[in-house]
Amino acid sequence: MHSKADLGLFYRGLPVVVTGGAGFIGSHLARALVGHGAEVRVIDDLSGGTLDNLAPLRIQEATSQASAAAARTSIRTSPPPIRFFRSSILDAEALARCCAGAAVVFHEAALASVPASIEQPRRYLEVNVLGTQQLLETAVKCGVRRVVFASSSSVYGDQPALPKVETQLPDPLSPYAQQKLTGEHLMRVWSLCYGLSTVCLRYFNIFGPYQRADSAYAAVVAAFANALLTGRPLRIFGDGSASRDFTFVSDVVQANLLAGAAHGLDAPPSADPLLAGGVVNIARGERITVAELARLMSEIARQEAPPVFEPPRAGDVLHSLADITRARQWLGYEPKTTVRAGLEETMAWYAQQ
Ligand SMILES: NC(=O)c1ccc[n+]([C@@H]2O[C@H](COP(=O)([O-])OP(=O)(O)OC[C@H]3O[C@@H](n4cnc5c(N)ncnc54)[C@H](O)[C@@H]3O)[C@@H](O)[C@H]2O)c1
Repeated sequence: MHSKADLGLFYRGLPVVVTGGAGFIGSHLARALVGHGAEVRVIDDLSGGTLDNLAPLRIQEATSQASAAAARTSIRTSPPPIRFFRSSILDAEALARCCAGAAVVFHEAALASVPASIEQPRRYLEVNVLGTQQLLETAVKCGVRRVVFASSSSVYGDQPALPKVETQLPDPLSPYAQQKLTGEHLMRVWSLCYGLSTVCLRYFNIFGPYQRADSAYAAVVAAFANALLTGRPLRIFGDGSASRDFTFVSDVVQANLLAGAAHGLDAPPSADPLLAGGVVNIARGERITVAELARLMSEIARQEAPPVFEPPRAGDVLHSLADITRARQWLGYEPKTTVRAGLEETMAWYAQQ
C-alpha cells in the first residue's frame, strides 16, 4: 500500500515511459508522473492524441539519437521537460530509444474504438497486438523493470453475471476486446518467459477532461458533453437501459501509479500474482444507465435535451459493473471521485474549450 508521499518518493527521478501519452488517459498519467517528480518520456504517433493534451507541461521533442542523448543530460534541470517521441510503437528503433534506461512503462497506446475495430480489424491487430508484443520485446531488451498495461472491461463481453469479477471467463465480442485480451496474455507470457514484471488494469468506461468529443466514435460522456454545448440532441444507441460503471480519469491515474510501484521494482514476477500479468478491474464499482447519464448531464448543463434513440451498435456490451475488491486488496486502490463530481469537472472543461 502506498500513500501519496510514498508514491512521490518512489517516482521522484524515476525514468518512466507513457506510450500513447498524448491521448486522453495517457496525458493525465504523464501530468501526474511529472507532478511526482518522475523523468517522463512519451511515445505517441498522434493518430488519436494531440500535444495540446499535454499542456501546460514543457515538452522536448526527441527527433534523433543526438537529441535523445542531449535530453538525457538536460533532465537534471528541474522540473525536467517531457521527452516526446513522435512515433508509432511499431517503429522498433524509436521505441527502443524511448525505452532506453526506463524503469516502468505504462502502455496506453492503442486504437481504442470498438466499432472502428470491426471495420478495420487488421489495422487494429497491428497496433493493439503486434505493437504490444513489440513493446514487450523492447522492454526486455532495454532492461525495463515493469510494464503496466491498459486493458479493458470489454474483454468480459455480455455475460449476465454482474458485477464482473476477474475470475470470470472472458468473452470478447469485438476485435478490439479480443486484442485487449491477447495483450493481457502477452503480458503474462512475458512475465513467465522473460522475468519482466507486468500488471494488467482492466479499465471500465473512463471519462474526464481531454477525452475526444469530435469523433464519430467518441465515448458517451464526451459525445453528450459536445452535444449539450452545441445544442444538438443526445444520441443514445439502444433504448437507454444499457448501464456502465463510469470512472473518473483521476481514479485510473491513481491505479496506474499504484500498479507501477506495487511491491517495489526489485520484486520478481514470482513474488506476487499481481506482478505476473495479474489482471485487476479499475472502476468506481457502481453503475448508471445511459438514459440516467443523459438526464444527469442535462441537469448539470441546465438544458432540456431530449435524447434521440438509434439502433444498438455491434460489439457494444449491454451492462457493465466492476467488482473492485481485488483492486482494493492488491493495489490499495480506492475510487475518490463520484460520477456527479467527475461530470461537473468534465462539463466545465468542455465548456472552456
Ligand atoms: N477511455 C476508456 O474508457 C478506456 C476503457 C478501457 C481501456 N482503455 C484503454 O486505455 C488506453 C488509453 O485510452 P484513451 O481513452 O486515452 O484513448 P486515446 O485514443 O485518447 O489514447 C490512445 C493514444 O495512443 C496513441 N496511439 C495510437 N496508435 C499508436 C501507435 N501505433 N503508436 C503510438 N501511439 C499510438 C494515440 O495517438 C492516442 O494518443 C487505450 O489502450 C485504451 O484501449 C480506455
